[in-house]
Amino acid sequence: MYITMLPLLLACAGPVSAALQVDFSSTDSIKSAAKDVAFDVMSFYKGNQSGEIPGIVGLPPPSGQYYWWTGAALWSTMLDYWRYTGDETYNAVALEGLVHQNGPDLQHPFMSPNWTAGMSNDDHGFWGLSAMLAAELGFPNAPGDEPSWIELAQGVFRALEERYLAQTTCDGGLPLQVAPTDNGYNIKNTLSNAVFLNLGARLARYTGDQTYAEWAEKTWDWLSTVGLVEHYGNFIGVHDRVSAEICTDVNGDSWTVNAGVLLEGAAHMYNHTTGDVQSTWRTRIRNITALEFANSFPFTHDDQWILVEYKCEFGSEPCNPETHFYKGIYLRALANTAKLAPFTRDDITRRFRDSAEAAVKVCDGGTSGRACGYKWNMDANWEKKRAVDDDEEGERMEGLPAEMNALSVLLGLLVDEPASKGFATNETVIKDESQGAGGGSDNDGESQGNGNGESVGTTTRVAVGWMVGGLVAAVF
Ligand SMILES: *[C@@H]1O[C@H](CO)[C@@H](O)[C@H](O)[C@H]1NC(C)=O
Ligand SMILES: *[C@@H]1O[C@H](CO)[C@@H](O)[C@H](O)[C@H]1NC(C)=O
Ligand SMILES: *[C@@H]1O[C@H](CO)[C@@H](O)[C@H](O)[C@H]1NC(C)=O
Ligand SMILES: *[C@@H]1O[C@H](CO)[C@@H](O)[C@H](O)[C@H]1NC(C)=O
Ligand SMILES: *[C@@H]1O[C@H](CO)[C@@H](O)[C@H](O)[C@H]1NC(C)=O
Repeated sequence: MYITMLPLLLACAGPVSAALQVDFSSTDSIKSAAKDVAFDVMSFYKGNQSGEIPGIVGLPPPSGQYYWWTGAALWSTMLDYWRYTGDETYNAVALEGLVHQNGPDLQHPFMSPNWTAGMSNDDHGFWGLSAMLAAELGFPNAPGDEPSWIELAQGVFRALEERYLAQTTCDGGLPLQVAPTDNGYNIKNTLSNAVFLNLGARLARYTGDQTYAEWAEKTWDWLSTVGLVEHYGNFIGVHDRVSAEICTDVNGDSWTVNAGVLLEGAAHMYNHTTGDVQSTWRTRIRNITALEFANSFPFTHDDQWILVEYKCEFGSEPCNPETHFYKGIYLRALANTAKLAPFTRDDITRRFRDSAEAAVKVCDGGTSGRACGYKWNMDANWEKKRAVDDDEEGERMEGLPAEMNALSVLLGLLVDEPASKGFATNETVIKDESQGAGGGSDNDGESQGNGNGESVGTTTRVAVGWMVGGLVAAVF
């Protein structure tokens, strides 16, 4: 008896090693799973320990694993975690990280000399989107002389605007890289411009200043003119990049991050406008999702729509540590789209539910027994999941991006929660403050925006690699 009992007792006393379990009919169960995954996300963050750099998850390659912009994606994810669950556990560390990365020059937000060499416009813009989300959610501003979140978002917008105005090729459009001497200044990529449009649309909503909305319209027109946003009758395709010499040599790679950041910007414009302008944005949203959903949720086995990053899960190049972050950014952008453009809600909710069920099924690895995998789409036979969830070396792709993606899909199930924070404007913030709510953000319920777009880095660096072999002009 003793002998057989002993291992059992040890198993009970040891660390719990169990796959993530969620009862999808229960909001409490979803929140509890989100709490576990949020903990696992933050277990990768060492920036609040002595000797580490706050705001980022280690140094970028080759010394570390993650590029600078992924820090912005992390904080946008954790702000959304707070927004949808009300759990403030990680707020202080998010605040410290964002303030530290803002850097020393308050006139030029998020331009720390550590990162300006090699900075791309989408990288910089992602930090602006994190600040914008903080403003929209009424996240408490940093104490002391630090600028407010909205001032930071406006500062990043101004920097992008100046760079756009300095362009002498392609009649506009932001280049990938910030510095004219960087390899990649000769590329104009969708993501940098989608981030600019997204930030402009949100600043228009938040401040009521029409100049921002004009920039969003102008950027949409530019993307359409060069063909990065391509109309096929009733469908709209979102492509990846053109060269700054030719301007129409569209690379047609399709990445969820590009479509997501653009859609979220369009949803803010739709929500902010009225009449004919609003109908135009509505058509754009419908026509982008009609095509993009077919790319990113292509699976109907068991009648399920499960998110895939088609380009790297099924395409010619493997997913990499940057592209791994795209799903989460896309999902959180879709959650905001569902809120701001309610006519998309049913389509989006169904995809969140199917994808969340699939995602949780592969949160069953690592020493914790609940580390999430990257690939969610499975053969009809779920047994095969290990075989497909591999990187080039045959390792299961666990890590920070897989956890952030899983957290994002769970949060997307909570968009209808009454407590989920809305989209502030400078007026509602002033009203809250005068009522003594101090930075609260349960303002009018409407509006939020999530700053997710994320990152630039990925698409772009991939693009640079591709450029070496010459641009692949692609027709969808
Ligand atoms: C860093 O933040 C985490 C929360 O993510 C917290 O648990 C931990 O105690 C903090 N560490 C230090 C040294 O402050
Ligand atoms: C810049 O690098 C220095 C030296 O590693 C570090 O102490 C500082 O925290 C970094 N600042 C930012 C904003 O990354
Ligand atoms: C909101 O911001 C805009 C632009 O900065 C400004 O013109 C407007 O007066 C602000 N509204 C309030 C209530 O502060
Ligand atoms: C494009 O948008 C228009 C206007 O909403 C709609 O009538 C049309 O069906 C959309 N096309 C597709 C393929 O969804
Ligand atoms: C704008 O967004 C709010 C908040 O989600 C929503 O309640 C409202 O219906 C949206 N407006 C329109 C015109 O759809």
